[in-house]
Amino acid sequence: MLKVNIDSIFGFVPKDEVYSLENKVAEANSSIYKKTGKGSEFLGWVSLPSGALADTAEIKRIKDCASRLAGISDIIVVIGIGGSYLGARAVIDALSSNFNSLLSKDERKAPLILYAGNNIGEDYHEELLKILDNKDYSLIVISKSGTTTEPAIALRVLKEHCEKKYGKPGASKRIAAVTDSSRGALKKLADSEGYETFVIPDDVGGRFSVLTPVGLLPIAAAGYDIDKLLQGAAEMENICRSDSSFEKNPANMYAASRFCLYNKGKAIEILAGFTPNINYIIEWWKQLYGESEGKNGKGIFPAGVNFTTDLHSMGQWIQDGVRNIFETVLSIGSQSNTLKVPADESNLDELNFLAGKRFCEINKMAELGTLIAHVEGGVPNISISIERLDEGNIGELIYFFEKACAVSGYLLGVNPFDQPGVEAYKKNMFALLDKPGFEKESEEIHGKLKL
Ligand code: PA5
Repeated sequence: MLKVNIDSIFGFVPKDEVYSLENKVAEANSSIYKKTGKGSEFLGWVSLPSGALADTAEIKRIKDCASRLAGISDIIVVIGIGGSYLGARAVIDALSSNFNSLLSKDERKAPLILYAGNNIGEDYHEELLKILDNKDYSLIVISKSGTTTEPAIALRVLKEHCEKKYGKPGASKRIAAVTDSSRGALKKLADSEGYETFVIPDDVGGRFSVLTPVGLLPIAAAGYDIDKLLQGAAEMENICRSDSSFEKNPANMYAASRFCLYNKGKAIEILAGFTPNINYIIEWWKQLYGESEGKNGKGIFPAGVNFTTDLHSMGQWIQDGVRNIFETVLSIGSQSNTLKVPADESNLDELNFLAGKRFCEINKMAELGTLIAHVEGGVPNISISIERLDEGNIGELIYFFEKACAVSGYLLGVNPFDQPGVEAYKKNMFALLDKPGFEKESEEIHGKLKL
């Protein structure tokens, strides 16, 4: 079961200050469950795990589509950006071999999942098309609005490639769409082309959508158990429910601690992992917290590091730089494999004292050593630990972070469910690209460029 330990913040924030937030946290929880807070039209994620488990027909349809696509594909390309891809990638990466792309389909027991439309890289997409020339593949396109530029233009090129390769009727069987129930360009396209479609509920925003078909379809297609993922999340849904006590609710403890640290000037939170498998969990977390909290001139800046790799780069800054940071370490209890350091007769590196030790034992000591060094260097530490990287534990972690994020947003006094700030770059990009309807903005921006 997921655990949160905040003991290593008490040298920076008195314990009673954290506990004095009990009432404010209770108010935030009440706003969530009674739907009285800002953005309450986007609270569908609160009961998603139990709701999804109860909807056995939809779960079966997701699994059937996933295994149909997996059966005809060496590769499945997931097209989406932000909340429409990060959650799936976080879970798939965490559960997969670090060298998944070098394994055969038989070894993986599932197709390789690749991603498109999460950037506008010309080389990236052209190189992907060349790989797909010689592979059997399918596409899962995910976009709530259906008009987001990055996935929309990626879909154009991939759809064209797929239709050339398999013919129009063949391509239609290889493309599945996850989108809005009735509105939006992707819904219209999917209906007219006969793609199998899945719905992103209206009341679930992109970054809270990993436990909808947005995440579940790609995760199932990658060969992972979505029932166990949802069961883990449902357990956490129960633990974090409205009537659970302040102290027994890990989401409350995490939200209250980071809010206290923020009020002490700790404006940057660094989420640190000690295994590369969780790098995309960190990326997903960055979006969840960054987009939910960073508004109205407020918010903790979410940063991520991958230790021990980054101890040899960012470690210096964290140990010794501006003291406006705190660190949250995401600890994974056990590894799936066993690898021990061999003895070496010459002992030139003088590391024979490590002979016979598992890599994970050494990594654990690196983690403990880092914690002590960083706390002594003036960096408060929150520890979040899960037993292992499996579907159930990851499901718990996802729900925990989502719930704590909503409580955090309400403590901060912002709407955690909107993202008005992401429109600014789009407006400028469309103006620069002369999108019809943007004539005035286009004139203005070209004027600015001449200055
Ligand atoms: O969290 C969000 O709302 C965003 O990250 C969106 O998911 C992202 O912009 C993609 O939007 P769409 O699904 O409409 O293509």
